[in-house]
Amino acid sequence: MAKKRYTITVSGKGGTGKTLISTTMIKLLSQSQGLRILAIDADPAVSLPSALGVKVGKTIGDIREEIFKDSTNPASMKVPLQVPLDMMIENLIGEIMVGAHGFHLLAMGRPEGPGCYCLLNDILRYAIDKFTKKFDVTVIDCEAGLEHLSRRTIRDMDFLFAVTDPTKRGINTAESIKKLAGDMELKFGASGIIVNKVTKGDEAFCREISSDVVGIIPLDESVAQYDRIGKPFLLLPDDSPVVVAVRGILERTVWSDERWNQH
Ligand SMILES: Nc1ncnc2c1ncn2[C@@H]1O[C@H](COP(=O)(O)OP(=O)(O)OP(=O)(O)O)[C@@H](O)[C@H]1O
Ligand SMILES: [Mg+2]
Repeated sequence: MAKKRYTITVSGKGGTGKTLISTTMIKLLSQSQGLRILAIDADPAVSLPSALGVKVGKTIGDIREEIFKDSTNPASMKVPLQVPLDMMIENLIGEIMVGAHGFHLLAMGRPEGPGCYCLLNDILRYAIDKFTKKFDVTVIDCEAGLEHLSRRTIRDMDFLFAVTDPTKRGINTAESIKKLAGDMELKFGASGIIVNKVTKGDEAFCREISSDVVGIIPLDESVAQYDRIGKPFLLLPDDSPVVVAVRGILERTVWSDERWNQH
């Protein structure tokens, strides 16, 4: 049984498999009865909803547009405030959160047209701080790169996963994510590297190259097939290689973490 508010962050370079892994973790976590799960799509490209097979109406980007005229200025309110700003934002976020089977979903989205992300990131940070407290587990699917960590949008997490492809350069980059989190003085309980899209024969190389590797996920043709026809990754069967590998990773990391078992 998880303690209240366990936060999992899935970060890494572009196209490495963050959304697939976040989705599979959400799928496996939602198989535990009674856990209240929050999925946060922290990628302006909004890809987690379709991977989960869920439609989102409004995003945090839309809220930003509705409230503020200027994307850099928190004082540029479009309408006079009836309630304190933080209460108004909390209410609006509560309204746009989508309830699905076994989890809730909140999407960051992006501003319409060109605009600075500062204020949007500020609202996302506020949403993460506020709403992770209302759920047992939160899984955050990051945008590619290190933006949310370097800007401290996500600053308190229990497990930080860095996803990489099976190359030495990729694994070295993934190692630097942990260092960045330390340098930025982010609070994180534990971290680990997941090497994804690994072909047969490369497993040993991936494990040996870094002691931070907590799991290896095979290259799986059925994932590409799901992508081609737009089928949600959430529907991958429990015995598919990716789901089996992610279950093993959760068992070795989150589910055996003492923070998870505190309640
Ligand atoms: N284990 C795998 N086997 C086969 N294909 C995979 C695997 N993991 C991911 N892919 C494919 O790689 C692509 C990227 O996956 P995904 O969208 O999950 O990555 P991402 O890190 O979230 O990307 P982005 O940085 O764009 O958000 C997709 O086309 C997906 O189908
Ligand atoms: Mg993604």
